[in-house]
Amino acid sequence: MEQKTEAAAKHFAALVEKQLARVERMKRDREFTDFSALPQVVIGICGGDGIGPVITREARRVLEYLLADEVKAGKVVFRMIDGLTIENRAAQGKSIPDDVMEQLKSCHVILKGPTTTPQAGGPLPNLESANVTMRRELDLFANVRPVKVPELGIDWAFFRENTEGSYTLGSQGLNIDEDLAFDFTVTTAGGTDRIARLAYDYAARNGKKRVSIVTKANIIKTTDGNFLRRCHEIGRQYPDITTDDWYIDIMTANLINEEIRSGFQVFILPNLYGDIITDEAAQIQGGVGTAGSANIGQHYAMFEAIHGSAPRLIEQGLGDYADPSSILRATVLLLSHIGRQAQAEKLERALDICSRAGRGKKATGSADGATCREFGDFVMETVAQL
Ligand code: IPM
Ligand code: MG
Repeated sequence: MEQKTEAAAKHFAALVEKQLARVERMKRDREFTDFSALPQVVIGICGGDGIGPVITREARRVLEYLLADEVKAGKVVFRMIDGLTIENRAAQGKSIPDDVMEQLKSCHVILKGPTTTPQAGGPLPNLESANVTMRRELDLFANVRPVKVPELGIDWAFFRENTEGSYTLGSQGLNIDEDLAFDFTVTTAGGTDRIARLAYDYAARNGKKRVSIVTKANIIKTTDGNFLRRCHEIGRQYPDITTDDWYIDIMTANLINEEIRSGFQVFILPNLYGDIITDEAAQIQGGVGTAGSANIGQHYAMFEAIHGSAPRLIEQGLGDYADPSSILRATVLLLSHIGRQAQAEKLERALDICSRAGRGKKATGSADGATCREFGDFVMETVAQL
């Protein structure tokens, strides 16, 4: 028994050391790159796995069209990044191979198709999710996910903390023996303050009057407790905004409570709750295929669909029917993040129009809908007319 506790203490000490070093790094670097003020923005594009290359191709096409003048003027550069496939990652035994990471770091913003994450016990090497690695290595601390359903009065913005919580050490849990296992959840003061500030700044800039903090601080008292307390402290610096807080269980119910849900505006959540509830919210909007996701850091940003690589669609031979709406919504967020607001709004309006079109014109993931390419054509035609 003593041996087991000693080994566990050693494992834990190493984790604490690494997290303390991360806290110090965060304290040293509080600067934000102003992406809209860069003389030249480098946009990396990686297709990923499964339906990733199919849907990313359409996003790339519309992005290149909307930024054509800027590319000519040398203000925007596109860089294709190929090596983020599961085949290459499995062959190299790394969730993001070093040369791919270097290429990613040579960009300012990245548009990324979904990547396949091997499951423990499956045939592939048990690699960490490429998403999780990228978010951590590029320090993409905020996952911003807008969800809008105008006819229901829903206009939500989720600010999910993206580098801490249950995810930071998600691959570094500990099996003490056959009977006993631990995972770890991490919250830092700096990590909490920066997501809270981003959410409140967004609320203040966009005329939002209400911010809702969502945790399970009644049970997860230390990490969620700190998260909740510090978000409230930041909230007090914004006297024009009302702050309330909720537990994650009742918030999942609130989102389908038609009497109150349209009253919510901005949410701040720790990583795992944010992951779960944004799928629920996206479903209310029409499905996870309809929502985009921005991963924002101080010096990098990555934009992606909120869904996975859909291996089942590929297995069924339906990859070409994948719906690119989610990554196209992410493209709107990318354009806005690099200060190309006019182009962002144009694409958003085009997507609003195209998403209201008849079933036959939309890609639905099934063979009776449009193909991904046909829907992409429809979006291109619509953008060109606006
Ligand atoms: C998401 C996804 C990811 C997550 C997976 C692919 C690692 O579900 O972006 O919401 O859990 O964060
Ligand atoms: Mg998710």
